[in-house]
Amino acid sequence: MRILVTGGAGFIGSHYVRTLLAGGYPGYEDAHVTVLDKLTYAGNRDNIPLGHPRLTLVEGDVCDLPLLREVLPGHDAVVHFAAESHVDRSLAAAAEFVRTNVGGTQTLLEACVATG
Ligand SMILES: NC(=O)c1ccc[n+]([C@@H]2O[C@H](COP(=O)([O-])OP(=O)(O)OC[C@H]3O[C@@H](n4cnc5c(N)ncnc54)[C@H](O)[C@@H]3O)[C@@H](O)[C@H]2O)c1
Repeated sequence: MRILVTGGAGFIGSHYVRTLLAGGYPGYEDAHVTVLDKLTYAGNRDNIPLGHPRLTLVEGDVCDLPLLREVLPGHDAVVHFAAESHVDRSLAAAAEFVRTNVGGTQTLLEACVATG
């Protein structure tokens, strides 16, 4: 089982990744995890156990369709946490929120369909 976790270096995503790799989800103890994260101001590589044998970090944008089409094959599931989530910032930079949260989700779904 290979799981792609977008936004896996953020607050909730990294907790999910650490729990998954620690065997916290019965039936997924052997899961391989690929974190796809743009590492914005909200993402931190120190949040995840880099060097873990079942973890791969891909630094990239969830809006990047060619990258998603390259990374997705071989994965069985996608858990999508990548987002602009800081409400205060949304007041000053709304376009980035729409781009990532709406466009990124649509791009990710399109890539999932394209790659099966
Ligand atoms: N934190 C909460 O209390 C809470 C509650 C309910 C729902 N949520 C939702 O859960 C999701 C994750 O929340 P969070 O608190 O972990 O957010 P966060 O801001 O801590 O983490 C978001 C992660 O996404 C990454 N990211 C941002 N833009 C990206 C892009 N274009 N491509 C790839 N990666 C990108 C960031 O680098 C970061 O690692 C959001 O959709 C949020 O709305 C959060």
